[in-house]
Amino acid sequence: SSKQELDILAAYEWLTKLYHHLIRFTKDGKEGYQYLRDRGISDEAIDTFQLGFAPNVRDFTVQFLKKKGFNEALLVNAGLVSLQNDNSVIDRFRGRVIFPIRNHIGKPIAFGGRSIAGGEPKYLNSAESELFQKGKLLYNFDLAKKHIRKQNEVVLFEGYMDVISSYQAGVLNGVATLGTSLTESQAKLLKRYVDTVIVCYDGDRAGVEATYKAANILRKAGCQVKVANLENGLDPDTYIQTYGGEAFKNEVIKASNTYLSFYMRYMRKDFNLSLESDRLAYLDIILNELAKLESVVEREYYVREISKEHNLSVESLSSEIESIRDKQG
Ligand code: GTP
Ligand code: MN
Ligand code: MN
Ligand code: MN
Ligand code: MN
Repeated sequence: SSKQELDILAAYEWLTKLYHHLIRFTKDGKEGYQYLRDRGISDEAIDTFQLGFAPNVRDFTVQFLKKKGFNEALLVNAGLVSLQNDNSVIDRFRGRVIFPIRNHIGKPIAFGGRSIAGGEPKYLNSAESELFQKGKLLYNFDLAKKHIRKQNEVVLFEGYMDVISSYQAGVLNGVATLGTSLTESQAKLLKRYVDTVIVCYDGDRAGVEATYKAANILRKAGCQVKVANLENGLDPDTYIQTYGGEAFKNEVIKASNTYLSFYMRYMRKDFNLSLESDRLAYLDIILNELAKLESVVEREYYVREISKEHNLSVESLSSEIESIRDKQG
């Protein structure tokens, strides 16, 4: 690493400790602490994830780090402060709960900051840099890694709070993308550690669309994809707050669906299945997808499902799939 990178790492380490100390033990961090406690986050989780609070002061961070010997230019490069028009600098994170974003060996290299009183944007991240590239990183990968290996499974979430709530529920193999869609690089990283990825995105419309996209990227990287089923717009964190951790583990994670069941449901929304023509078009799409499955057992499983649901014979569905497979080569 360059000297500059080492300095940036040092700055993040100081700040992570400072913000964490403030939220745990001081009145300057009280509102952040209260916010997390109101959201059901324990002291133990606050410590494990090194959560913190950046006070709502214009140059709190700048002053602290300057006293430690860091210069302003470095802090700008670290994505921690913003340069104003008059060339003065101002803290990027003010009055926000801080989620340190650790690299894969556990060193904080960026922050996610959540507003606590409805301020916009809801989340603010450190500016991207050489050191911090959102698309290459997964939140909590460092801590989750050994559980991911052991279980040969990873749970992929949208947000920090989903990872932390799930951790409190005993799901320790959770990671999250950082507010962007899953990249090929993240999918390849996961593939090096696991066969199965359980996508557990928010149960809202955006979450379902993002699930479809992520699933395809993961499948292309060679992962087996399962999809957790969160009904009526809940996200994993709100589900856990509403129904509890045990329900989350049993009804959402353990009960996650195969990619194909998700796909069948996902595609259905574009069709009116009571219309003959729509039904045929829908089945055509599904059978084409089914034909791509290498396992005969798997194909048969879905053929039976479809046969029951659409009142078609197993034989005709199977022979249709065979002819598609012949064409696909
Ligand atoms: P909470 O409201 O704190 O529970 O957040 P959430 O994680 O449920 O938020 P949401 O589902 O809207 O977004 C998922 C993730 O996307 C967050 O954890 C952030 O990483 C990211 N994100 C959400 N909103 C913003 C934003 O306004 N700016 C940025 N940069 N990232 C965001
Ligand atoms: Mn959002
Ligand atoms: Mn969301
Ligand atoms: Mn969410
Ligand atoms: Mn949420």
